[in-house]
Amino acid sequence: MKKNSKSQKQLQDATEIYKERFDKHYDELKWLYMELYDNSSMFAELCDNMMHFFSERNEQLKSMDCSRELCNDWYKQNDMLGMMFYIDNFAGNMKGVKSKLDYIEKCNVNYIHLMPFLETPEGRSDGGYAVSDFRKVQENLGSMKELEALANACHKKGINVCMDFVMNHTSEDHEWAKKARQGDGEYMSRYFFFDNSELPSLYEKTVPQVFPTTAPGNFTWLPDAGHFVMTTFYPYQWDLNYKNPRVFNEMMYNFLYLANRGIDIIRIDAVPYIWKELNTSCRNLPQVHTIVRMMRMISEIVCPGVLLLGEVVMEPAKVVPYFGTVEKPECHMLYNVTTMATTWHTVATRDVRLLKRQLDIVNSLPKDYVFLNYLRCHDDIGWGLDYDTLRLEGIEERSHKQYLNDYFQGYAGESNSRGELYNADPVTGDARFCGTTASMCGIEKAASTQDDEMMEKAIRLDVMLHAYMFMQSGIPVLYSGDEIGQFNDYTYKENPNKADDSRYIHRGAMNWTLAENISKHDTTEGKIFNALKQLEQIRKSEKVFVSNADTWTVETGDKSVLCMGRYLDGDKIIGLFNFSEYDKTVSVSETDDGYADMISGKDIKLNEVHIPAYRFYYLKKK
Ligand code: GLC
Repeated sequence: MKKNSKSQKQLQDATEIYKERFDKHYDELKWLYMELYDNSSMFAELCDNMMHFFSERNEQLKSMDCSRELCNDWYKQNDMLGMMFYIDNFAGNMKGVKSKLDYIEKCNVNYIHLMPFLETPEGRSDGGYAVSDFRKVQENLGSMKELEALANACHKKGINVCMDFVMNHTSEDHEWAKKARQGDGEYMSRYFFFDNSELPSLYEKTVPQVFPTTAPGNFTWLPDAGHFVMTTFYPYQWDLNYKNPRVFNEMMYNFLYLANRGIDIIRIDAVPYIWKELNTSCRNLPQVHTIVRMMRMISEIVCPGVLLLGEVVMEPAKVVPYFGTVEKPECHMLYNVTTMATTWHTVATRDVRLLKRQLDIVNSLPKDYVFLNYLRCHDDIGWGLDYDTLRLEGIEERSHKQYLNDYFQGYAGESNSRGELYNADPVTGDARFCGTTASMCGIEKAASTQDDEMMEKAIRLDVMLHAYMFMQSGIPVLYSGDEIGQFNDYTYKENPNKADDSRYIHRGAMNWTLAENISKHDTTEGKIFNALKQLEQIRKSEKVFVSNADTWTVETGDKSVLCMGRYLDGDKIIGLFNFSEYDKTVSVSETDDGYADMISGKDIKLNEVHIPAYRFYYLKKK
């Protein structure tokens, strides 16, 4: 009897909480939905399903939602550290990942991005980014039950779980695509089908190509169906038509279903592409923002503990609008992609000026914006730099991209990097680049040539880059394997399903034998792991690393030495990073109130800092 009345009370509380959240967003949600779809019965269906997914959400997740609502800065703290990995590469399957949570904790990581794990056809999967069933886990990786168990085990350890929501397209093997291919009009209208080339060729006039070499064009001819279908990415990834409210609703139900499995962070894959209009680039159209804003409201109503991470791999002016506004936020977090690409430009040129300028742009943005900072991820590095500024120095886009690609292949300049080109476009001369952090820093070459001096420098560069990345505001995300300096993996060339896609060069399996070396301080793995560990511990023990601290850059008088400052409530840290292979002495234009190096404990005078090649300092005001 007692138990019954308790659960009734809980039910009542939950209904009230839901109602409060729903009422808060109802007018705006309805307004945006009707503006886009003008379909009140589909809107009513959406609302019914939101309620359904809320009641299906388990008590634990609901109480986490409530505590996160009360402390909505929870993800902006200085202890946040992410790691991304493919489940099979990292630990075989979901159970394997669960058994490796101690290692993840040892890495100070409290957020894991599980790369795409939903059902996808073998050989036509784009690394899992072609989903054939949004409610099924790839059999070799586990099951939905195992995902829930993994998320639960993570939550017990304070680890957040991130997954991809690939919403721009489905696999051609998705049930909808199969029905569309058979000519079912209802399903054809969920994609972009054309029975002749007239409209596709008009689109091609204004829509750029994502994979010009590996998947040229934006349409695929389906001989059996006698139609073209829009395929912005690979031919087996069919673009969804969000003009159809059925697509939006169903995808939102998939989103909420996945959130309810215990996911904390949902990465909205390729989001700029989700709305298409003829005579446009089909990127970043205003309707994309309407959709993301609706997603934000829907998740704030049903699962407010869940964060949206937008994948917008574009220049800052295009990225920032995805944060929305203070009153009408869209994504919680976005990738700091231009900073990442500019970092590698700086490694190749030893010239920090463009990076300083880029950091100044990021530092001038509202402190509420949270960026994901990273050195490498699963994708290639596109050389999206600020060429207008470089041009003032006489550096042209095409020749500079060529230089960077040559440099990182180890052909130009004083380079020990190894890696491969990606989607080299013979028409534009454009190419992107693939390789692991360690290989790009020269660790692979130093190991293969057994050059100890080269190795020492390469490790220093690798650690310095991490120190610099940790100094930025936002959430640093490690690419799995980088914590032990893993090299490129060339075995993808032997796999016909992967051989054409050089991104697999940096998607190798975690080498657990090498990882055992982390306790041996004289090994490459031990040196990198322990240096990063020290930085991670500093970062999480110093409040000044919270995402909304004051941040700025400082002149050093040397174009190879970058200086960044952070300030919060009387605490101040100055970071110095030498991007060159030469020792430097610099003078930092900051008032010297007395600083000590946080690593060695030594006092350092700002007017004359000696900084060895590829070294860094974290200087703390005493
Ligand atoms: C995103 C992913 C990339 C994938 C593409 C298509 O950009 O990061 O790996 O190829 O989407 O889904």
